Amino acid sequence: MQNISYNLEGKVAVVTGGSRGIGLALAGEYLRQGARVVICGRKQQNLEAAKEALQGGDNLLFIQAHIANETDVDNLFQACLSKFGQIDILVNNVGMNLLTPTLADTEPALFQKIIDSNLTGTYLCSRKAAQAMREQKQGKIINISSIAARRAAPGMGIYGIAKAGIEMLTKVLAAELAAYNIQVNAVAPCMVRTDFSKPFWSDPERCRQAESRIPFGRIAEPDDVVPAVLFLSSAGSNFITGQVIIVDGGATIV
Ligand SMILES: NC(=O)c1ccc[n+]([C@@H]2O[C@H](COP(=O)([O-])OP(=O)(O)OC[C@H]3O[C@@H](n4cnc5c(N)ncnc54)[C@H](OP(=O)(O)O)[C@@H]3O)[C@@H](O)[C@H]2O)c1
Repeated sequence: MQNISYNLEGKVAVVTGGSRGIGLALAGEYLRQGARVVICGRKQQNLEAAKEALQGGDNLLFIQAHIANETDVDNLFQACLSKFGQIDILVNNVGMNLLTPTLADTEPALFQKIIDSNLTGTYLCSRKAAQAMREQKQGKIINISSIAARRAAPGMGIYGIAKAGIEMLTKVLAAELAAYNIQVNAVAPCMVRTDFSKPFWSDPERCRQAESRIPFGRIAEPDDVVPAVLFLSSAGSNFITGQVIIVDGGATIV
Protein backbone atom coordinates (compact mmCIF):
# COMPACT_ATOMS: atom_id res chain seq x y z
CA MET A 1 0.00 0.00 0.00
CA GLN A 2 1.46 3.37 -0.98
CA ASN A 3 1.84 6.04 1.67
CA ILE A 4 -0.90 8.51 0.73
CA SER A 5 -0.18 12.14 1.47
CA TYR A 6 -1.65 15.49 0.49
CA ASN A 7 1.73 17.06 0.97
CA LEU A 8 2.66 18.96 -2.20
CA GLU A 9 6.27 19.79 -1.27
CA GLY A 10 8.25 20.38 -4.47
CA LYS A 11 5.15 20.77 -6.66
CA VAL A 12 4.22 23.82 -8.72
CA ALA A 13 0.53 24.69 -9.07
CA VAL A 14 -1.08 27.23 -11.38
CA VAL A 15 -4.50 28.44 -10.21
CA THR A 16 -6.33 30.59 -12.74
CA GLY A 17 -8.51 33.20 -11.06
CA GLY A 18 -6.62 32.73 -7.81
CA SER A 19 -7.14 36.26 -6.56
CA ARG A 20 -10.61 35.78 -5.07
CA GLY A 21 -13.18 33.17 -4.03
CA ILE A 22 -12.51 29.46 -4.52
CA GLY A 23 -9.21 30.12 -6.33
CA LEU A 24 -7.86 32.19 -3.44
CA ALA A 25 -8.83 29.47 -0.93
CA LEU A 26 -7.12 26.89 -3.12
CA ALA A 27 -3.95 28.93 -3.53
CA GLY A 28 -3.74 29.29 0.27
CA GLU A 29 -4.14 25.54 0.79
CA TYR A 30 -1.53 24.70 -1.87
CA LEU A 31 0.95 27.01 -0.13
CA ARG A 32 0.16 25.36 3.24
CA GLN A 33 0.83 21.96 1.62
CA GLY A 34 4.29 23.14 0.51
CA ALA A 35 3.62 23.86 -3.17
CA ARG A 36 4.85 26.87 -5.07
CA VAL A 37 1.88 28.66 -6.58
CA VAL A 38 1.13 30.86 -9.57
CA ILE A 39 -2.16 32.75 -9.63
CA CYS A 40 -3.62 34.88 -12.37
CA GLY A 41 -6.47 37.32 -12.70
CA ARG A 42 -7.47 40.31 -14.81
CA LYS A 43 -7.25 43.06 -12.21
CA GLN A 44 -3.95 44.05 -10.64
CA GLN A 45 -5.64 45.36 -7.47
CA ASN A 46 -7.23 41.92 -6.81
CA LEU A 47 -3.86 40.24 -7.34
CA GLU A 48 -2.18 42.69 -4.94
CA ALA A 49 -4.88 42.00 -2.31
CA ALA A 50 -4.40 38.24 -2.78
CA LYS A 51 -0.62 38.61 -2.40
CA GLU A 52 -1.21 40.40 0.89
CA ALA A 53 -3.69 37.75 2.08
CA LEU A 54 -1.61 34.74 1.01
CA GLN A 55 1.80 35.86 2.33
CA GLY A 56 3.44 33.32 0.02
CA GLY A 57 6.76 35.15 -0.28
CA ASP A 58 9.01 33.69 -2.94
CA ASN A 59 6.74 30.66 -3.33
CA LEU A 60 4.00 32.81 -4.87
CA LEU A 61 3.95 34.38 -8.32
CA PHE A 62 1.05 36.41 -9.60
CA ILE A 63 0.49 37.31 -13.22
CA GLN A 64 -2.09 39.58 -14.75
CA ALA A 65 -3.77 37.56 -17.51
CA HIS A 66 -7.15 37.13 -19.18
CA ILE A 67 -7.52 33.41 -19.76
CA ALA A 68 -9.36 33.85 -23.06
CA ASN A 69 -6.43 35.82 -24.51
CA GLU A 70 -3.90 33.47 -26.10
CA THR A 71 -0.95 35.84 -25.65
CA ASP A 72 -1.79 36.35 -21.97
CA VAL A 73 -2.02 32.57 -21.48
CA ASP A 74 1.32 32.00 -23.22
CA ASN A 75 2.90 34.65 -20.95
CA LEU A 76 1.35 33.08 -17.84
CA PHE A 77 2.87 29.65 -18.49
CA GLN A 78 6.16 31.12 -19.71
CA ALA A 79 6.42 33.10 -16.46
CA CYS A 80 5.65 29.99 -14.42
CA LEU A 81 8.30 27.91 -16.20
CA SER A 82 10.89 30.71 -16.03
CA LYS A 83 10.46 31.19 -12.27
CA PHE A 84 9.79 27.65 -11.07
CA GLY A 85 11.04 25.45 -13.97
CA GLN A 86 8.04 23.10 -13.99
CA ILE A 87 4.26 22.86 -13.72
CA ASP A 88 2.74 19.93 -11.87
CA ILE A 89 -0.83 21.08 -11.25
CA LEU A 90 -3.18 23.32 -13.21
CA VAL A 91 -6.53 24.33 -11.74
CA ASN A 92 -8.75 25.88 -14.39
CA ASN A 93 -10.75 27.81 -11.85
CA VAL A 94 -11.82 30.92 -13.78
CA GLY A 95 -15.51 31.05 -14.49
CA MET A 96 -17.80 33.81 -15.62
CA ASN A 97 -21.56 34.05 -15.76
CA LEU A 98 -23.94 36.75 -16.89
CA LEU A 99 -27.66 36.34 -16.61
CA THR A 100 -28.88 35.74 -20.15
CA PRO A 101 -32.21 35.69 -21.94
CA THR A 102 -33.38 32.59 -23.82
CA LEU A 103 -30.96 31.38 -26.48
CA ALA A 104 -33.38 32.62 -29.16
CA ASP A 105 -33.10 36.12 -27.72
CA THR A 106 -29.36 36.16 -26.99
CA GLU A 107 -27.01 38.14 -29.21
CA PRO A 108 -24.21 35.95 -30.65
CA ALA A 109 -21.54 38.26 -29.18
CA LEU A 110 -22.82 37.61 -25.65
CA PHE A 111 -22.92 33.86 -26.29
CA GLN A 112 -19.31 33.99 -27.53
CA LYS A 113 -18.13 36.07 -24.55
CA ILE A 114 -19.44 33.56 -22.00
CA ILE A 115 -18.10 30.57 -23.96
CA ASP A 116 -14.68 32.25 -24.28
CA SER A 117 -14.30 33.17 -20.59
CA ASN A 118 -15.22 29.65 -19.50
CA LEU A 119 -14.59 26.99 -22.16
CA THR A 120 -12.06 28.60 -24.53
CA GLY A 121 -9.96 29.88 -21.63
CA THR A 122 -9.94 26.44 -20.02
CA TYR A 123 -8.84 24.93 -23.33
CA LEU A 124 -6.05 27.53 -23.84
CA CYS A 125 -4.63 27.01 -20.34
CA SER A 126 -4.93 23.21 -20.50
CA ARG A 127 -3.16 23.20 -23.86
CA LYS A 128 -0.12 25.07 -22.53
CA ALA A 129 0.02 23.07 -19.31
CA ALA A 130 -0.32 19.77 -21.21
CA GLN A 131 2.64 20.65 -23.43
CA ALA A 132 4.87 21.12 -20.38
CA MET A 133 3.42 18.16 -18.47
CA ARG A 134 3.96 15.80 -21.43
CA GLU A 135 7.68 16.61 -21.28
CA GLN A 136 7.67 15.98 -17.53
CA LYS A 137 5.68 12.73 -17.95
CA GLN A 138 3.40 13.69 -15.08
CA GLY A 139 0.80 16.27 -14.14
CA LYS A 140 -2.66 17.00 -12.80
CA ILE A 141 -5.27 19.18 -14.47
CA ILE A 142 -8.40 20.00 -12.46
CA ASN A 143 -11.25 21.90 -14.05
CA ILE A 144 -13.84 23.69 -11.95
CA SER A 145 -17.22 22.94 -13.46
CA SER A 146 -20.64 23.52 -11.87
CA ILE A 147 -23.86 21.64 -11.29
CA ALA A 148 -25.14 24.07 -13.95
CA ALA A 149 -23.49 21.66 -16.43
CA ARG A 150 -26.28 19.16 -15.81
CA ARG A 151 -29.36 21.37 -15.37
CA ALA A 152 -31.00 23.70 -17.86
CA ALA A 153 -31.41 26.65 -15.49
CA PRO A 154 -33.27 29.72 -16.80
CA GLY A 155 -30.92 32.69 -17.15
CA MET A 156 -27.83 30.50 -16.90
CA GLY A 157 -28.14 28.59 -20.18
CA ILE A 158 -24.90 29.65 -21.84
CA TYR A 159 -22.89 29.22 -18.64
CA GLY A 160 -24.31 25.68 -18.34
CA ILE A 161 -23.44 24.95 -21.97
CA ALA A 162 -19.87 26.17 -21.37
CA LYS A 163 -19.52 24.07 -18.18
CA ALA A 164 -20.89 20.98 -19.95
CA GLY A 165 -18.26 21.65 -22.61
CA ILE A 166 -15.60 21.83 -19.88
CA GLU A 167 -16.69 18.41 -18.60
CA MET A 168 -16.29 16.89 -22.08
CA LEU A 169 -12.97 18.71 -22.47
CA THR A 170 -11.97 17.01 -19.21
CA LYS A 171 -12.73 13.57 -20.66
CA VAL A 172 -11.03 14.21 -24.01
CA LEU A 173 -7.87 15.56 -22.34
CA ALA A 174 -7.93 12.67 -19.86
CA ALA A 175 -7.98 10.14 -22.71
CA GLU A 176 -5.31 11.95 -24.73
CA LEU A 177 -2.92 12.52 -21.84
CA ALA A 178 -3.20 9.23 -19.95
CA ALA A 179 -0.18 7.83 -21.79
CA TYR A 180 1.91 10.64 -20.28
CA ASN A 181 0.81 9.92 -16.70
CA ILE A 182 -1.31 13.08 -16.61
CA GLN A 183 -4.66 12.95 -14.80
CA VAL A 184 -7.45 15.32 -15.83
CA ASN A 185 -10.54 15.61 -13.64
CA ALA A 186 -13.20 18.15 -12.67
CA VAL A 187 -15.01 19.36 -9.58
CA ALA A 188 -18.60 20.60 -9.89
CA PRO A 189 -19.91 22.67 -6.96
CA CYS A 190 -23.39 23.97 -6.22
CA MET A 191 -23.73 27.60 -5.15
CA VAL A 192 -20.63 28.74 -3.24
CA ARG A 193 -20.48 31.86 -1.08
CA THR A 194 -18.18 34.07 -3.23
CA ASP A 195 -18.48 37.33 -5.18
CA PHE A 196 -19.49 35.26 -8.21
CA SER A 197 -22.87 34.27 -6.77
CA LYS A 198 -23.36 37.20 -4.38
CA PRO A 199 -26.47 38.49 -6.18
CA PHE A 200 -28.11 35.15 -5.26
CA TRP A 201 -26.94 34.42 -1.71
CA SER A 202 -27.06 38.03 -0.51
CA ASP A 203 -30.80 38.11 -1.22
CA PRO A 204 -32.40 36.28 1.75
CA GLU A 205 -35.33 34.89 -0.25
CA ARG A 206 -33.15 33.62 -3.13
CA CYS A 207 -30.67 32.16 -0.64
CA ARG A 208 -33.45 30.38 1.26
CA GLN A 209 -34.75 28.94 -2.03
CA ALA A 210 -31.28 27.70 -2.98
CA GLU A 211 -30.74 26.16 0.48
CA SER A 212 -34.12 24.42 0.33
CA ARG A 213 -32.88 22.48 -2.73
CA ILE A 214 -29.74 21.27 -0.92
CA PRO A 215 -30.18 18.28 1.44
CA PHE A 216 -27.49 19.62 3.79
CA GLY A 217 -29.60 22.78 4.05
CA ARG A 218 -26.91 25.31 3.23
CA ILE A 219 -24.93 26.61 0.27
CA ALA A 220 -21.22 25.75 0.05
CA GLU A 221 -18.28 27.77 1.35
CA PRO A 222 -15.00 27.88 -0.66
CA ASP A 223 -13.47 25.56 1.97
CA ASP A 224 -16.08 22.89 1.10
CA VAL A 225 -14.67 22.76 -2.44
CA VAL A 226 -10.95 22.86 -1.63
CA PRO A 227 -10.57 19.27 -0.27
CA ALA A 228 -11.92 17.66 -3.46
CA VAL A 229 -9.44 19.66 -5.55
CA LEU A 230 -6.64 18.82 -3.12
CA PHE A 231 -7.41 15.11 -3.43
CA LEU A 232 -7.33 15.37 -7.24
CA SER A 233 -3.98 17.20 -6.95
CA SER A 234 -2.43 14.49 -4.82
CA ALA A 235 -0.88 11.09 -5.52
CA GLY A 236 -3.98 9.44 -4.05
CA SER A 237 -5.83 10.19 -7.29
CA ASN A 238 -3.18 8.76 -9.62
CA PHE A 239 -5.54 6.07 -11.02
CA ILE A 240 -8.52 8.42 -11.46
CA THR A 241 -9.00 10.37 -14.69
CA GLY A 242 -11.80 11.91 -16.73
CA GLN A 243 -14.10 12.10 -13.70
CA VAL A 244 -16.22 14.81 -12.12
CA ILE A 245 -16.55 15.07 -8.33
CA ILE A 246 -19.83 16.81 -7.52
CA VAL A 247 -19.59 18.95 -4.37
CA ASP A 248 -23.18 20.04 -3.91
CA GLY A 249 -24.44 18.92 -0.48
CA GLY A 250 -26.63 16.42 -2.32
CA ALA A 251 -28.43 18.99 -4.51
CA THR A 252 -28.31 16.87 -7.66
CA ILE A 253 -29.57 13.66 -6.02
CA VAL A 254 -32.99 15.05 -5.11
N1 LIG B 1 -19.55 30.68 -6.62
C1 LIG B 1 -20.43 29.80 -7.06
O1 LIG B 1 -21.61 29.79 -6.69
C2 LIG B 1 -19.98 28.73 -8.03
C3 LIG B 1 -20.81 27.61 -8.20
C4 LIG B 1 -20.41 26.60 -9.08
C5 LIG B 1 -19.23 26.73 -9.77
N2 LIG B 1 -18.45 27.85 -9.61
C6 LIG B 1 -17.21 27.94 -10.36
O2 LIG B 1 -16.13 28.07 -9.47
C7 LIG B 1 -15.08 28.79 -10.13
C8 LIG B 1 -14.58 29.90 -9.21
O3 LIG B 1 -15.68 30.75 -8.94
P1 LIG B 1 -15.68 31.81 -7.75
O4 LIG B 1 -17.04 31.76 -7.20
O5 LIG B 1 -14.51 31.63 -6.86
O6 LIG B 1 -15.52 33.15 -8.61
P2 LIG B 1 -15.13 34.64 -8.18
O7 LIG B 1 -15.28 34.82 -6.72
O8 LIG B 1 -15.90 35.51 -9.11
O9 LIG B 1 -13.58 34.73 -8.55
C9 LIG B 1 -13.20 34.63 -9.90
C10 LIG B 1 -11.70 34.74 -10.01
O10 LIG B 1 -11.35 34.62 -11.40
C11 LIG B 1 -10.72 35.82 -11.85
N3 LIG B 1 -11.18 35.98 -13.24
C12 LIG B 1 -12.44 36.14 -13.67
N4 LIG B 1 -12.47 36.16 -15.02
C13 LIG B 1 -11.19 36.01 -15.44
C14 LIG B 1 -10.58 35.92 -16.71
N5 LIG B 1 -11.28 36.00 -17.84
N6 LIG B 1 -9.24 35.74 -16.76
C15 LIG B 1 -8.51 35.66 -15.63
N7 LIG B 1 -9.04 35.72 -14.40
C16 LIG B 1 -10.36 35.89 -14.30
C17 LIG B 1 -11.16 36.89 -10.86
O11 LIG B 1 -10.24 37.95 -10.74
P3 LIG B 1 -10.42 39.29 -11.65
O12 LIG B 1 -11.85 39.72 -11.48
O13 LIG B 1 -9.44 40.26 -11.11
O14 LIG B 1 -10.11 38.85 -13.04
C18 LIG B 1 -11.16 36.07 -9.56
O15 LIG B 1 -9.84 35.89 -9.09
C19 LIG B 1 -15.67 29.27 -11.45
O16 LIG B 1 -15.27 28.39 -12.48
C20 LIG B 1 -17.15 29.17 -11.25
O17 LIG B 1 -17.84 28.97 -12.47
C21 LIG B 1 -18.80 28.83 -8.73
